Amino acid sequence: MACPPQSDELIFFVNGRKMMESCADPEEVLLSYLRKGLCLTGTKKGCGIGGCGACTVMISTYDPVSKKILHYPANSCLLPICSLHGTAVTTVEGVGSTKTRIHPIQERLAKCHGSQCGFCTPGMVMSMYALLRNHPEPSMEQITAALDGNLCRCTGYRPIIESYKSFAGEPTCCQLRGTGQCCLDQEGGVSSSSDRGDRMRSGLCNPEEFQPADPSQEFIFPPELMRMAQEQQGRTLVFQGERTMWISPASLRELLELKTKYPKAPVVVGNTSVGLDMKIGGVHHPVILHPDRISELRIVNNTNNGLVIGAACRLAQLRDILMKAVSGLPEEKTKIFCALLQQLRTLAGEQIRSLASLGGHIVSRGSTWDLNPVLAVGNSVLNLTSTDGKRQIPLTDDFLSGCKNADIKPNEIIVSVLIPYSKKDDFVSAFRQAERRKNALSIVNSAMRVLFKPGTNVIMDLNILYGGIGSTTVSARKSCQKLVGRQWNEHMLGEACRLVLGEIFLSPSAPGGKVEYRRALLVSFLFKFYLQVLHGLKILDPSKYPDLPKKYMSALGNFECRPPQGRQVYQDVDPEQPPQDPVGHPIMHQSGVKHATGEAVYCDDMHPIDGELSLAVVKSSKAHAKIVSIDASEAFKVPGVVDVVTASDVPGENGTKNEKAFAEEEVICVGQIICAVVAESDIQAKRGAEKVKIQYEELEPILTIEDAIKHNSYIGKEKKVEKGNIEKGFNSADEIIEGEMHIGGQEHFYLEPNSVLVVPRGEDNEMDVYSSTQYSSNVQELVASALDIQSNKIMCHIKRVGGAFGGKITKPSYFAVIAAVAANKTGRPVRFILERHDDMLIVGNRHPFFGKYKVGFMNDGRIVAADIQAYINAGCTPDESEMVIEFIVLKMDNAYKIPNFRVRGRACKTHLPSNTAFRGFGFPQSGLFAETWVTAVATQTGLPPEQVRDMNMYEGLNVTPFKEQFDATNLRKCWTECLEKSEYYSRKTAAEEFNKQNYWKKKGIAIIPMKFTAGFNKTFYHQAAALVHIYKDGSVLVTHGGVELGQGIHTKMLQVASRELKVPLSYIHLCETSTTTVPNALITAGSVGSETNGKAVQDACQILRKRLEPIIQKNPEGKWEDWIKEAFQESISLSATGYFKGYVTYMNWEKEEGHAFPYFIFGVACSEVEIDCLTGDHQNIRTDIVMDACFSINPAVDIGQIEGGFIQGVGLFTMEEIKVSPEGKQYTLGPDTYKIPAVCDIPEQFNVYFLPNTRNPIAIYSSKGMGEAGVFLGSSVFFAIRDAIASVRKERGLPENFTLNSPLTTEQIRMVCADDFTEMIPRDKPGTYKPWDIEVA
Ligand SMILES: Cc1cc2nc3c(=O)[nH]c(=O)nc-3n(C[C@H](O)[C@H](O)[C@H](O)COP(=O)(O)OP(=O)(O)OC[C@H]3O[C@@H](n4cnc5c(N)ncnc54)[C@H](O)[C@@H]3O)c2cc1C
Ligand code: FES
Ligand code: FES
Repeated sequence: MACPPQSDELIFFVNGRKMMESCADPEEVLLSYLRKGLCLTGTKKGCGIGGCGACTVMISTYDPVSKKILHYPANSCLLPICSLHGTAVTTVEGVGSTKTRIHPIQERLAKCHGSQCGFCTPGMVMSMYALLRNHPEPSMEQITAALDGNLCRCTGYRPIIESYKSFAGEPTCCQLRGTGQCCLDQEGGVSSSSDRGDRMRSGLCNPEEFQPADPSQEFIFPPELMRMAQEQQGRTLVFQGERTMWISPASLRELLELKTKYPKAPVVVGNTSVGLDMKIGGVHHPVILHPDRISELRIVNNTNNGLVIGAACRLAQLRDILMKAVSGLPEEKTKIFCALLQQLRTLAGEQIRSLASLGGHIVSRGSTWDLNPVLAVGNSVLNLTSTDGKRQIPLTDDFLSGCKNADIKPNEIIVSVLIPYSKKDDFVSAFRQAERRKNALSIVNSAMRVLFKPGTNVIMDLNILYGGIGSTTVSARKSCQKLVGRQWNEHMLGEACRLVLGEIFLSPSAPGGKVEYRRALLVSFLFKFYLQVLHGLKILDPSKYPDLPKKYMSALGNFECRPPQGRQVYQDVDPEQPPQDPVGHPIMHQSGVKHATGEAVYCDDMHPIDGELSLAVVKSSKAHAKIVSIDASEAFKVPGVVDVVTASDVPGENGTKNEKAFAEEEVICVGQIICAVVAESDIQAKRGAEKVKIQYEELEPILTIEDAIKHNSYIGKEKKVEKGNIEKGFNSADEIIEGEMHIGGQEHFYLEPNSVLVVPRGEDNEMDVYSSTQYSSNVQELVASALDIQSNKIMCHIKRVGGAFGGKITKPSYFAVIAAVAANKTGRPVRFILERHDDMLIVGNRHPFFGKYKVGFMNDGRIVAADIQAYINAGCTPDESEMVIEFIVLKMDNAYKIPNFRVRGRACKTHLPSNTAFRGFGFPQSGLFAETWVTAVATQTGLPPEQVRDMNMYEGLNVTPFKEQFDATNLRKCWTECLEKSEYYSRKTAAEEFNKQNYWKKKGIAIIPMKFTAGFNKTFYHQAAALVHIYKDGSVLVTHGGVELGQGIHTKMLQVASRELKVPLSYIHLCETSTTTVPNALITAGSVGSETNGKAVQDACQILRKRLEPIIQKNPEGKWEDWIKEAFQESISLSATGYFKGYVTYMNWEKEEGHAFPYFIFGVACSEVEIDCLTGDHQNIRTDIVMDACFSINPAVDIGQIEGGFIQGVGLFTMEEIKVSPEGKQYTLGPDTYKIPAVCDIPEQFNVYFLPNTRNPIAIYSSKGMGEAGVFLGSSVFFAIRDAIASVRKERGLPENFTLNSPLTTEQIRMVCADDFTEMIPRDKPGTYKPWDIEVA
């Protein structure tokens, strides 16, 4: 495109290099500029909407007025490049690289094992880097707050925080050790022997090996930009793009003229609101005004009335200004500031806080924006200006609800905001409750203010505002008016609650759902405010007002995010083991440093290939319908669109017999791919896809498990296992109870979305397929069959995958087929990178579960019979659902020996996207359900849950209900060890004591055992192969069939090869997984990938070593290189394939017996939590895990898997909610609506211990597979919350046999802690309204 003549040159620096863009496009964001324009692919795209932090960069600006340089982290996915004129951008490549030097941040993160898949890692590095540039010795609070906006799905955050602790200003435990041992350890030295003679070791990295931090090594701010900032102060800049003009005026006057000329043009500062409207809502702005250089919009003035703050002031700056004001002013003047600060602590992440402006926040006024209610109750005033002159308007509820006569005019801008000082008799509070404590929009927020007649408790003025209730912030104005003149006492509170509930209406069908919870929060917040004010009055005049009952004090205060501490204890290597043998040592992830420097290449990081096209898909918007027509004519008119590909373009098989790649004739779920548009760029492909029109004839969908049961809609046959005599068992029981449970699904939320690049080789129909799959051979097979060619023409390559968790087993093959068919049709390479929302929609989830139980038991707690019926919502195709329901049936006993036991399971076929494999493969659901019916027995008998667990737990040699033998000794050992390590009984007593003292906050503790299995119930799933080459220089190349997903498989394979070949790790390389080196590889899943491939690598290495043996014998003192040279001279083959036939397993469903799993893994977790009964919030206080991991090949990798899995389980069971409309559309399609645990959600103390002195003779080097086991142990948090709730209900005389479903969200916690407030909310009769969402489990 030719550049418009009026366009200015955009100048900014990236990593010290000057960028000059004469043709800058205002619609382009920095992320795509970096990745596509500069090939700086270290900065990752995880979501594209500011929610994950993978794209974090540091922006540095120079303010010519204050002459200061400011550094801040920013989400490059939301930053228009035109906003960067005159700034310096630092990306992860600019921080450090293996080619120059790695930065201590990168080094420490890698050495502390803070990366697994590595996709989030550059973002983590950049958040920390920006913090250190501003605060070279930050506090731990600053460190954790700096990571608020960065999500990691793999690590569980503990090692990330651990690595950054070393930068903290204050000494932290591990810095003090000096011996390489964590100071939390009470047991001797690094490899001290315990009393039982077991060699255990603790700590996974040694801070003494860290390079010192040297701030003088950092980039300096380019002097040229300082000069530019001075010189260009007076000049307006215009950047004209294809569709949008970006104008950055230099003066206020000019801005006002422009606003008069373009009244519809947004005044973009942070672009966090406008940018999202453009990305998600498809809004287009022909003109954008950018007022960043206008000093009037950045003023900070202390006036007699309050602080006047420029509208372009960023929220992070606002926080710093308010903190300064609070520390310098009398307390009575700063109550509004404190309320704002409280909201700012949890509002978004640091990147968004650094971008978003006060003015932008006020004007965009989302219903859940947290500052606006506080500003409004604080009587803030907006200073407006336009070409017509200046005026002031109050920031009121009318303004926030967009009332025309209270609003700003289209030609006006906000110059500044007056935030008044509070008065002596003022009380101001702010509240918010979100699905996650930080970086999540509020479900409901509120600000409340009361002004008393001086010296009294008589209300003179009252103001209550709520967000998250309607489409705008709403006021309880009438209620407040009625309460003026009333005294602040319990009568007033009761009246206030009734009035507010009468005034603030929330429809039962309100968008966002959670209607009754939201209503309850209205009055819960009011009650908290009531108590806070009472407490404040008492402090003001202790003689006049009564003390707040001590028990009630617990309603005050919020949970804080404290920096986590932890211990990791594992079996030490044999003292006889040669020092160069790396097996058993916590070796750093093979790609750890490259993750941290951004040099690790993922599929979409591959540089564009000549002639490459981008692909976007057209998806079904109906759950079940006939396709009447596909009209792509408009798509072809979009510039750059090359072709539209449908099922008719597939030369061979369109997918498999079970699942089509492109829909034909009928669609069976929302999100099913109908056709694909290929274009010269990804934006053109997306625009083209939006233009394709599909006509449907709608059919009735089945969406829920209940519907499927009703319609007899199943996949496969019922699976059943029965042991003993169920009827006799029930007859012998003292008591029988029955119950049900729903467990919601879970999004995989790997940080790297599904990606594929297909490159035709131009000869013999050969194609290279680069895919982010867990299953290389399936990609190869399906592509070959779609193109109707032999598999030997398709080469599938996988360098690494940015997290998978089961979500990249089946679907990537279909994505590859779609891209390959397009490549075949056009003859050009095709790249298909799924947008986050498409990935979440199409890929399917963990299976939602519904279970019914009937359990018979004796009065002493012994369970004598259990009859279980399990259902999963499989979605629209078989996928892996049959195997998932099989695993659910086989593992339903968890750790318990029930003499008479029957479990039956069915996979329900519905019109939802096909649910698929997910870490744990059904066990997290069946385990949670099993623990639920065991807990129900404890409740019914009145016995402590741990006692009922203990008495029913397997012991010694045993058989499962399907007659597989196993030894439960280690289960018992884990149980005892966990009870001891967690100090369970003393902490339980302490929690009970706490609960007696505190009415509104309660603690709970739970200890949960686990019997898990590795592997699959069919032998062939366990086979694995490897290919090992030794080159003439002695270097070794290892390849195997497993895929590096972040689980450290390649690192372990290098350790195996090093031990077997007896060469140092530095000699060995592993470059990729490919179908050209290892054919027919099985899925990398089921916790056994590392050990089965490890056996294959071992086999290959042993073959090679055997061949070398005669040469070594001849020259025992020789070097490895000499032996290899000699072997070559003697024509000895230096390449070998290794093979592992697999563990023998089988399951005979007719006989209901088998040897279904190669071995068992035991573990126990104890968790403690505290809940806030009024909001449903909870705090994870401590978790101790004891795991029967045996002798780990790499303890850092395995502990990482356990910790990461555990946190994923915490997400599954307490937080992550998939919302589906009554029409079958999934609402939760990104980090904005779907919350995975963030850094604030991990236990404050998080300890992992491996069981001492245990071995697993079946797996390589006596190890056990740790990939999945941790997930279920997250249920200990679920049951700890349950314990806290039980204490609430007992105290309140409520039935104790209550039902909880999963996830146990803030909503459920609040509503089950029933009280006067939940009693008073209006309820709607089911069936009298259409709900916003439905329960599909
Ligand atoms: C990932 C993410 C998480 C978030 N989390 C939270 C949260 O937890 N809590 C919360 O409260 N909010 C949250 N937000 C919302 C955020 O607070 C707002 O998007 C932000 O404050 C808007 O500021 P901005 O400078 O980016 O506005 P922009 O997008 O730049 O502009 C927004 C609007 O304001 C107008 N405008 C801006 N300045 C002026 C002015 N001086 N005069 C007149 N009009 C003006 C523009 O014309 C435009 O219409 C989140 C946003 C994102 C993207
Ligand atoms: S990609 Fe930018 S925040 Fe997720
Ligand atoms: S390592 Fe953080 S997302 Fe994988």
